[in-house]
Amino acid sequence: MHIDLADLDFWRKTPKERGEAFASLRQLERPVFFPEKKVPFLRSGSGFYALVRHADVVEVSRNATVFSSEPAASNPEPPSWVKQVFGESMVNMDDPRHARLRRIVTRSFSPKMLAGLQSDIDTACTGIVDDVLRDGPQDFVTQVAARLPIHVICDMMDIPQAWRAKIHQHVDVSTAYTGVRTSLPRTIQLAGQNMLALLALQRMVIKLGQERAADPKGDLVSLLVTANPDGEKLSDRELGSFFALLLVAGNETARNTMAHGIKLLTDNPAQRELLMSDFDKHIGNAIEEMVRHVSPIMQFRRTLTQDYELRGLELKKGDKVVLFYGSANRDETVFPDPDTFDITRETKPHVGFGGPGPHFCLGANLARQEMRAMFRELLTRMPDIRSVGEPELLVSNFDNSVRSQAFTF
Ligand code: HEM
Repeated sequence: MHIDLADLDFWRKTPKERGEAFASLRQLERPVFFPEKKVPFLRSGSGFYALVRHADVVEVSRNATVFSSEPAASNPEPPSWVKQVFGESMVNMDDPRHARLRRIVTRSFSPKMLAGLQSDIDTACTGIVDDVLRDGPQDFVTQVAARLPIHVICDMMDIPQAWRAKIHQHVDVSTAYTGVRTSLPRTIQLAGQNMLALLALQRMVIKLGQERAADPKGDLVSLLVTANPDGEKLSDRELGSFFALLLVAGNETARNTMAHGIKLLTDNPAQRELLMSDFDKHIGNAIEEMVRHVSPIMQFRRTLTQDYELRGLELKKGDKVVLFYGSANRDETVFPDPDTFDITRETKPHVGFGGPGPHFCLGANLARQEMRAMFRELLTRMPDIRSVGEPELLVSNFDNSVRSQAFTF
């Protein structure tokens, strides 16, 4: 089988075909190098080594001194002017800049802050299911999965209700841009729309930040623009980039896990029965198994700061490695029978939220909390809910994104 992970056409293959390709790459003794292709609007580099085994993804994630997230963790890399226009996101930074930002934002995701969100999340789930019961089932993504994560982020930031519809629109535009581009004119159109959407989002939150700095409330924006005990706070520009990161990182991922999740539960009735036999006992592991099976983020990249030997491969300073989370999560040496959805398996070492290390997902516990509440509400109030037919997937090398999924209840 011809496999070229640097060719965006690879991501047009079916999930089954891609799964087979990764399975064969996992059997090889050494990580394979893929020369990079020229992609419109994105910087083309020399290429990357594909890390497809679980152990390699974990080793690299842990060692941020050698495996840098700068100049960018995305692959291919955006042109440098993007940073100038939008500022930098923490996901693309190393320490000490990364550590400083992480210190400032981490307190917004503390167990205490998350516990305080529970009743908001529950109320939002109840409202979503009320609406579905009233309107009847059409599309699981727009009616259910897409509504909760963005609602929670907006609630955390206490975004005025009047702005929320606009925010939804801007986020949808940005998501469309993560898909694999079909033609140059379409790429230019999507890139232009994406830039305008991101700028609009940043403007909105910067305005809020200025208001809340003068008159702080108990919300996330106020917390980020007022100093922590070490006297650190976010600048306007940092707040803008962080908001954009939250909307992209925290929205798509949880929504796609839920959309794939309802299909996994439908296709695996015995697993669903087991879950419902003792929801509280099984839901935690069921969510981890969904994240493992789905791997909502397919890849992030690292660049070597010095020479390093990885599994007998001599990597050189400046080389790029790409961490394929979906493949690591199907590594048969760690997860026996990896394609099977099994809510009783030991899922703890999965890398769906990233490998262990400084960039491990900041929102993992929030995502778990949202998904747990949403599935509880769905499965108890609509016990016959199930997906119908196949999902419509976005062609993307980054997001395992479901555009639509029919369902019934
Ligand atoms: C199922 C849901 C989610 C998945 C699968 C997921 C996945 C990931 C992954 C793989 C990374 C690692 C990046 C790297 O190592 O370079 C990451 C980082 C991050 N995630 Fe999530 N994420 C999810 C939900 C969320 C939510 C709900 C939020 C916030 C509202 C969030 C915010 C972030 C942030 C801010 C980072 C960057 C952390 C850093 O660079 O220090 N994520 N996520």
